[in-house]
Amino acid sequence: MKKLFTKAAVVAAAVCLMVTAPLMAQAKDNLSGTLEIFSWWAGDEGPALEALIKQFNEQYPDVTVENAAVTGGSGINARAVLKTRMLGGNPPNSFQVHAGQELIGTWVKSDRMEDLTWLFEEQGWMDAFPSDLINLIGTDKGIWSVPVNVHRSNVIWFVPANLEKWGVTVPADWNEFLAIAPKLQAKGIVPLALATNWTVNHLWESVALASMGPDKWDALWRGELAWTSPEVIQAWELFGKVLQYTNADASSLSWQQATDMVVDGRAAFNVMGDWAAGYMNTTLKLAPGTGFGWAASPGTDGIFMFLADSFGLPVGVENRDTSVAWLKLVGSREGSDIFNPLKGSISPRLDTDLSLYNAYSKSAAGDWGKNRIVGSLAHGVTANEGFMSDFASVMEMYLKSRNAEQAAKACNAIAVKNGIAKK
Ligand code: GAL
Repeated sequence: MKKLFTKAAVVAAAVCLMVTAPLMAQAKDNLSGTLEIFSWWAGDEGPALEALIKQFNEQYPDVTVENAAVTGGSGINARAVLKTRMLGGNPPNSFQVHAGQELIGTWVKSDRMEDLTWLFEEQGWMDAFPSDLINLIGTDKGIWSVPVNVHRSNVIWFVPANLEKWGVTVPADWNEFLAIAPKLQAKGIVPLALATNWTVNHLWESVALASMGPDKWDALWRGELAWTSPEVIQAWELFGKVLQYTNADASSLSWQQATDMVVDGRAAFNVMGDWAAGYMNTTLKLAPGTGFGWAASPGTDGIFMFLADSFGLPVGVENRDTSVAWLKLVGSREGSDIFNPLKGSISPRLDTDLSLYNAYSKSAAGDWGKNRIVGSLAHGVTANEGFMSDFASVMEMYLKSRNAEQAAKACNAIAVKNGIAKK
């Protein structure tokens, strides 16, 4: 009797599953072959992706997943490899790409992505994601990727007990930072930990946002504020002052090593995206609030500079069915809530289960709901790949010359070249 009941319950559950999740049940049938996932989430950055792949493996045990992650923060190496593969006609089944211009202005523009509108409609995602985010991954011709997270770029990290010990508080703006930095230096503490080149661009966007404010930041990307305007020159000047208080060996460090400097008490602060929260909590096992603290980067309280990672479906992949199955998991509530609590990001979905997230992520989710939202340059929202790589060259030039006016002029030239500014 008990056995029969159990069997009946299993059948009932199976019927229920077929009704509530017909797509998942169908997809399970006959799905085999390989699925190559391309990203830059390797090593210390890997746990969230690995958890998502584990979930995929459980759902599709006959599919062999190849985790083709190319290490290097912000995709500095991965994006170059991806370009070679895409242009060489050898796309991975799905690849990590930033929502915004990195996707639209690079891969969609060159007709390399499949339109996923049908998938969004089939999965009920038109209502599951905020419409602003859908606009960012869409054009009038389609929707081109599936968002997996929302990260915040403008965050300053610190260890509360260390600040107390050193008698400093979190600077509300960059002038406050410039006032306390010499005091920290006098104690042998690096005021602001910095790492390899792309993290310099990352710091720049927080400083520029603070210096010019969100309206002008947005105007810059709409081509309505000249790159040679006094506001932009002032931002470069402020940036130069801030750079004086960073570590001399920055270019040889990974972003994680800059975070380590704060954690170990060698540095007071670090401005980094909230993947640093993922690293400190998931990898270093530090508790948010005590092990590490956070605030909006100086001068940007009330503003959330965001970026979103997403996965797309390149045109012409082998085993396309496995790509689609992967994208379904990426966009699902379940997938999102497996991935994001480990990553330091928040779910891009409107129905996320916040009880699964730590104190940092809860506070980020609160800010996401009420702050002014602007896009990140360093992580693909506001500008295409062409501008981003040209900007990196301008930055290199600036680091040598420290000439704000020259940097602003060079930015103007690359903005015109990459279709952001008119002349
Ligand atoms: C960003 C990416 C994040 C994180 C970070 C550091 O570009 O969106 O998810 O990986 O780089 O590598």
